[in-house]
Amino acid sequence: MKTVYIAMSADLITPGHVSIIQEARTLGEVVIGLLTDSAVAGYQRLPYMGYEQRKVVIENIVGVKEVVPQETLDYVPNLLKIKPDYVLHRDDWNTGVLRETRQRVIDTLKQWGGELVEPDHQPGITAAALSRAIREVGTTPQARLVMLKRLLEAKPLIRIIEAHSGLTGLIAETVSVQCDGQAREFDGIWMSSLTDSAAKAKPDIEYVDMTSRMNTVSDILETTTKPIIFDGDTGGIPEHFVFMVRTLERLGVSAVIIEDKKGLKKNSLFGTDVVQVQDDIEDFTHKVSCGKHAQVTDDFMIIARIESLILKAGMDDALKRAEAYIAAGTDGIMIHSRESTAHEVLTFCKEYAKFSDRVPLVAVPSTYCRTTEDELAEAGVRIVIYANQLLRSAYPAMVDVAKSILENGRAAEAEERCMPIKDIISLIPERSST
Ligand code: SPV
Ligand code: MG
Repeated sequence: MKTVYIAMSADLITPGHVSIIQEARTLGEVVIGLLTDSAVAGYQRLPYMGYEQRKVVIENIVGVKEVVPQETLDYVPNLLKIKPDYVLHRDDWNTGVLRETRQRVIDTLKQWGGELVEPDHQPGITAAALSRAIREVGTTPQARLVMLKRLLEAKPLIRIIEAHSGLTGLIAETVSVQCDGQAREFDGIWMSSLTDSAAKAKPDIEYVDMTSRMNTVSDILETTTKPIIFDGDTGGIPEHFVFMVRTLERLGVSAVIIEDKKGLKKNSLFGTDVVQVQDDIEDFTHKVSCGKHAQVTDDFMIIARIESLILKAGMDDALKRAEAYIAAGTDGIMIHSRESTAHEVLTFCKEYAKFSDRVPLVAVPSTYCRTTEDELAEAGVRIVIYANQLLRSAYPAMVDVAKSILENGRAAEAEERCMPIKDIISLIPERSST
């Protein structure tokens, strides 16, 4: 009996999947190379369903003999193991990202006289249409919550951008660019306390209360499906923090980051220009453990933010705290800095790499913005947060337009800086009521 290999991510099964499997069956026994989350994450958004969920579905389709993980977009490692007689793929991959992948399949199969079979592409439900459909259907709190952990397992670096409203959430959700022939998007959303407060014209001093912050979260949940990391400021007193954890988890937020400061919190980017007091290690670790006990699922993450470099308490203090916070069960460490270069963050990363017990590292390159994601990833950073750029870019744009209207006594001169009226009125489509 001949062996036929088909690679797929099989997220939402369409008639197209079934028909290619049926075609493969006429040639031999069908082995599905099911793309793992990491294989998919290399070139597009994570599948809606996790690997195990997708596997259960695909292995129960009539005609499928076996399902094996395909760990990379590249077929070669699996082809060398399985040595199939045929590989089947629709004839729609001769251009774009998959072109080279296709060529490698042909070259590898040649080694044992295998053959690439390319049945006609059948127009129907495309992957892009499915992705739009998922966005329209939305997500569930549990599917969204677990997404950050899935991303951490699937990708070396996770790219997060700030949102402070439903509209900015929509930008974080949908903006995509082509880089090296592949789509590049943000992986998730930072619910910044600075920008949430500033958008309400309030200082970033924990004055905007949880009810109000949850309203912003709710607006963002409405327009997005990507995971959310909530800026919990100091987390308040432990008795309040446990409520914050439960509320966020219930809504499907993936993580909260709390900073080790106490008393009147000021924004970290003030550094030592204002009075800010760092919390005692014991009190802060107690708060983290209270939060860890309060969460209901295993998927919610509590990330400890170290302010030692901001407050000039020194590298040793930062490292000592990282060790203590990890021992207390924190799921991640955010190391913050307001230096204009990444020097001290990179020094921290270097020492951190020597720890035997490590959790994912988070960095926020606001002041050291010249440092690239690649440099941070190289140093061991797993999550990069662009914490305030959407608000900081919107404000001057609005001020310019306001000035132009005043100067000209009309709006015509500002018009080219504004999006067309027809676009703004249809930016947010109505939902179907049937
Ligand atoms: C925020 O975005 O609110 C933050 C990051 O906490 S920072 O503003 O740098 O303190
Ligand atoms: Mg903040």
